[in-house]
Amino acid sequence: MKTIGVLTSGGDAPGMNAAIRAVVRTGIYNNFRVMGIRQGFSGLINGDIFEMNLSSVADIIHRGGTMLRSARSEEFKTEKGFKKALNVLEVFSIDGLVVLGGDGTLKGARELSKAGVPTIGIPCTIDNDCGYTDYTIGFFTAVETVVDAISKIRDTSTSHGRANVIEVMGRDCGDIALYAGLAGGAESIIIPEVEFDIDEVCKRALQGKNRGKLHHIIVLAEGVGNAYEVAQTIQEKTGIDTRVTVLGYIQRGGNPTSFDRIMASQMGNRAVELLKEGKVGRTLGMKCNEIIDMDIDEALKIEKKFDIEKYNTSKILSI
Ligand code: F6P
Repeated sequence: MKTIGVLTSGGDAPGMNAAIRAVVRTGIYNNFRVMGIRQGFSGLINGDIFEMNLSSVADIIHRGGTMLRSARSEEFKTEKGFKKALNVLEVFSIDGLVVLGGDGTLKGARELSKAGVPTIGIPCTIDNDCGYTDYTIGFFTAVETVVDAISKIRDTSTSHGRANVIEVMGRDCGDIALYAGLAGGAESIIIPEVEFDIDEVCKRALQGKNRGKLHHIIVLAEGVGNAYEVAQTIQEKTGIDTRVTVLGYIQRGGNPTSFDRIMASQMGNRAVELLKEGKVGRTLGMKCNEIIDMDIDEALKIEKKFDIEKYNTSKILSI
């Protein structure tokens, strides 16, 4: 193998840059030619490809976003688009590919691998919704952002004696809400994995108020429903003035935490080592603090397990 390509696809995640840096530098260290593919599978279809050198990835380890840019490509899912992508890989003589992204992106990597392209996946998404790995790159940075927001909202919540519903991202996965809610001391965490009882949320708010608690933080995962409707119901049922903050895209940006940078650096490095060894059709992950690699097809069949222990702990601690 002489030329490898690297791309980032789907929703960006803090730490993608650190992973790109690791792929490029490990590739060059191993005498590979490294090609950057812009805008994910979309750039692959359109041949938006350039050669990278050591300096291409200077000064990016600490930056959020992705210097290769990203996109969600519908065309890649079509037979015609997929064939175009395969053709472009041939034209650029790319004989190994590192694909960075979430669940949807890893499915794309699996298809390329099935079509005979030596491919390695690296899980990058703030959602932490890939079942085969304990953590995905970007998740802990997003959690930090949410915890910081919870602390700030809690200040004003206390001053005004209000309840605040904070809506966080995660698509169908409640991990951002769960981890940030636990770390931020939220009174209620509402996530898709656990059936939600608005009366219990209201009861907690009233019990807190009766004990002299001035703030009440409800972290709501976006996969559950509308934050404004939840807030309105809480206000109607408890009489507590209730406000809403939808955190939105600030969760996707920002400097990656050390943990995300370390995972990204190790996985980027391992991805190239695997290509070098010819151990392909794999995806990287983390299990019990170790970087692991798995057959990509097998990995994507593993369903995400919900961390009920963290949920129960948060409930006990927020009484
Ligand atoms: O997958 C990451 C994520 O930020 C989800 O949490 C969110 O639901 C979605 O992407 C938003 O997607 P888009 O960037 O296409 O609006």
